[in-house]
Amino acid sequence: MDKKLVEKIKQLKRQRQAVILAHNYQPPDVQDVADFCGDSLGLSKNAAQTDAEVIVFCGVKFMAETAAILSPQKIVLLPDKFAGCPLANMINAEQLLALKQQYPDAIVVCYVNSSAEVKAHSDYCCTSSNAVDVVNSLPKDKQVIFVPDQHLGQFVKEKTGRNLVLWPGYCVTHMMITEEDIKNAKAKYPDAVVMAHPECSEPVKKLADYVLSTGQMLKCAAIGGANRFIIATETGIIHALKKQNPASEFIAASDRAVCPNMKKITLEKLLWSLENMQFRVVVPEQTRVKARLAIDKMMQILPVG
Ligand code: 13P
Repeated sequence: MDKKLVEKIKQLKRQRQAVILAHNYQPPDVQDVADFCGDSLGLSKNAAQTDAEVIVFCGVKFMAETAAILSPQKIVLLPDKFAGCPLANMINAEQLLALKQQYPDAIVVCYVNSSAEVKAHSDYCCTSSNAVDVVNSLPKDKQVIFVPDQHLGQFVKEKTGRNLVLWPGYCVTHMMITEEDIKNAKAKYPDAVVMAHPECSEPVKKLADYVLSTGQMLKCAAIGGANRFIIATETGIIHALKKQNPASEFIAASDRAVCPNMKKITLEKLLWSLENMQFRVVVPEQTRVKARLAIDKMMQILPVG
């Protein structure tokens, strides 16, 4: 790690009264310099609670947008303006409105991996930590539309027994992990516990011992009982898992599961972000107010585990 660069970032961070938030998929050196590292739900909470004037979000655009929705009085910066999320881009507001017309009485739950406009047209937001709880909290006689991730949606469908209307979105990076990868890893490490993210395909999840968000994976590894894990999600989480559990072994189910957007953030771009106060993420007020309602409703439903 470049110590001088880290020192400069820390100094400028204090000067700007900034807080650095980093998602668990960020490069290791970015995770290490952050004030808070976490999953989407944890980072949303951090963004809502911080007293800092400036939030530098080391993640992808929808995450910075979520912070801007929750903290409109703060300056929210994304160190690389091209760090997007292909999954979030798989549905836009027009497509959601057309779907709502087909099911006019349905409740819309959108995964946090979605644009601010899509959130503004949704009733509830959710993350992979609390999607099951959010859907379970809804009246049983109501039709529910779930967008945009079909694989998280399928997982929620199975866990809740509800007949959800799903959108055919998917995470390109999680699709890189195949059933074959898990079978091979299990054959090589028969004693290992398999943890898979709900965005993985159904055959991958079927082979997993646990289906968990990145935050839940960190909790699960810390509980003890096992010391070797096969991890089926973006490989960035392995750094956090190793750091928090030095005595355990973590094996990536696939080395191809690297999100090119998450990896667009580097220490240099983080420094430039603080130096030049770039790239500011602002959500138009009308959209923000409506999107906030969906996020607030999610925040009221506590995740289990
Ligand atoms: P988590 O909420 O589990 O961190 O997932 C975030 C994400 O974007 C997965 O692709």
